[in-house]
Amino acid sequence: MEERDCEPCMSRRELLAGIAAGTVAAALPLAEGAEAAPAKAHWVEVGKGTEFTATPKLVKAAGHPVFIVRDAKHHLHAISGKCTHRGCTVGWEASAHKFHCPCHGAEFSEAGKVEHGPAQKPLPVVQVHEMHGKVSVNIAGLM
Ligand code: FES
Repeated sequence: MEERDCEPCMSRRELLAGIAAGTVAAALPLAEGAEAAPAKAHWVEVGKGTEFTATPKLVKAAGHPVFIVRDAKHHLHAISGKCTHRGCTVGWEASAHKFHCPCHGAEFSEAGKVEHGPAQKPLPVVQVHEMHGKVSVNIAGLM
């Protein structure tokens, strides 16, 4: 005879039988704090590959400011240009090698990490790809 802590609970045998039948997972509620499924991709073409160099270039992707830069290995990287404090568009300061927000003075590293507040969160990284000489960014996480 199997032990049960409560009447409506499954016995170990019933749980194992449910796992084997694939019915338990469907019956379990989502864990609290579980992350929602990632947003669907929303790719926007922003220019030709030849336009992007080692100097971050600001483009508008369906109205969203995005900086795109090409590294020494010729790979593209993209980062949101929208300040995480109150949403102003940051600028690239080549002499300081960092992003600067003109509104309240936040500063971000080339990788988007906060170097000076009041912003608390880094600039979000944006997916970028180059195909047939055209560069596109995925703005799904920016909307
Ligand atoms: S909006 Fe950028 S520092 Fe406030």
